[in-house]
Amino acid sequence: MSDAASQRKMWGARFDRDPDASFYEFERSWKFDRRLLPQEFALDRAWARAIARAGILTSEEGDQIVAALDALELRSKSDTAWLDTSKAEDVHHFVETALIEKLGALGAKLHTGRSRNDMVATEFRMYVKYAAREIRSVVASLEHAIAEQAERNLKVPMPGTTHMQHAQPLLLSHWLLAHGEAFHRDAERVAAAAVRADVCPLGSGALSGCAFPLDRKALADDLGFSSISANSLDAVSDRDFALEYLFALSALAMHLSRLAEDFVLFASPEFGFVDLPDEFSTGSSLMPQKKNPDAWELIRGKTGRIYGSLMALFVTMKGLPSSYQRDLQEDKENLFQAHDQALAMIQIAGVTLAASRFREDRLREAAQDPALVATELADYLVTFGVPFREAHEIIGKVLRAAEQEGKSIREMSIQRLKEFSPVFDRNLATALTLESALARRSLPGGTAPGAVQSALLEFKRRLAELKSDL
Ligand code: ARG
Repeated sequence: MSDAASQRKMWGARFDRDPDASFYEFERSWKFDRRLLPQEFALDRAWARAIARAGILTSEEGDQIVAALDALELRSKSDTAWLDTSKAEDVHHFVETALIEKLGALGAKLHTGRSRNDMVATEFRMYVKYAAREIRSVVASLEHAIAEQAERNLKVPMPGTTHMQHAQPLLLSHWLLAHGEAFHRDAERVAAAAVRADVCPLGSGALSGCAFPLDRKALADDLGFSSISANSLDAVSDRDFALEYLFALSALAMHLSRLAEDFVLFASPEFGFVDLPDEFSTGSSLMPQKKNPDAWELIRGKTGRIYGSLMALFVTMKGLPSSYQRDLQEDKENLFQAHDQALAMIQIAGVTLAASRFREDRLREAAQDPALVATELADYLVTFGVPFREAHEIIGKVLRAAEQEGKSIREMSIQRLKEFSPVFDRNLATALTLESALARRSLPGGTAPGAVQSALLEFKRRLAELKSDL
């Protein structure tokens, strides 16, 4: 059958002329929605069984259609030329044409009671459920890499900053787990988007419902959905689930981008906190000394495209009248690309992070900056009953004097300190160690070694839960 003829078979009878070739290229979605072939075959089989149960097909006819679909699916997995050269309008057209070619009139019975509108809504939801699982599994690998690095660098100190200025010391493991927490929330958001997608529109027809006595719940069960949609018009109009998935990917990309930014800074010579792994870095064609953090920069850069996919779908949806509109075809290519990008970004982040070597010497040296323990000094005065606000002011003056005298506060004599407050009773070098500053943050969620150790255990417990759910 020629493409034009098969085209007519699907919807062409009321037309006098074939579609214009350039318009046909413009409107067809097969190039990208062929990705939905597994979902299309699963749906077609479930539909054949459902209409056989409803008496529209005999059970032998149902079996014959299912067997033919199995054979076509098998062929689709090995015969890529068949897929590549097809001029089908979309994935639904492709399978229907092949089925009719194989079974003749019987193949033509399958489309009873359904529409591509409820089919595409169903298959896209099935895809999002599958895609969400794929993303969660790479997030689990990234979380695993974070947990391993946190374990390896559990007690390594680093300067903590706010506004990029030295603030208070942290453990490197605490910084790593901060990113881990964000990614874990992302995995939960992706799972929530999959729960939203887990509602079956099939049986909604083109817009008004199905006129044949089908058991929609059984159909949904057959396709692995937890429930059925409540309103046929909403079911063919709704792409909220895709927006929620794209939002979850956008939040994930934003967190990847922030991790990437930390790595780019930490790998710079000014920080020197981490050595970039050769296998995930690039050089310069001009400057022989260069080793560039391109993996992280590309992760940061690609985040823009993920946000773009969310905005693109929001804009497509805005202003659509109720019901299916062809604009909705624009949902898929966009989401597929965002998914592919996100998957690659998470995967590369995980392996690059795992291969990175943190430089304990540099981190420890930077963490020795006495400015990082200024808060400790104020807290130290508080233990003598000095009100915190007053203590803050005294320490501010001590720090300024030290700066003017060109020395570290650790080097100031007890006599000099007493000029600022009589309560100083010893040299600050002993009162204020980096270790004590860290150890004092021992409440849950703090950076004390014991607290981080517990947080790491808890993080690993939740990671194991995520893995067991995959
Ligand atoms: N290819 C279409 C899409 O992706 C599905 C078919 C619905 N087409 C139609 N003309 N009603 O949205």
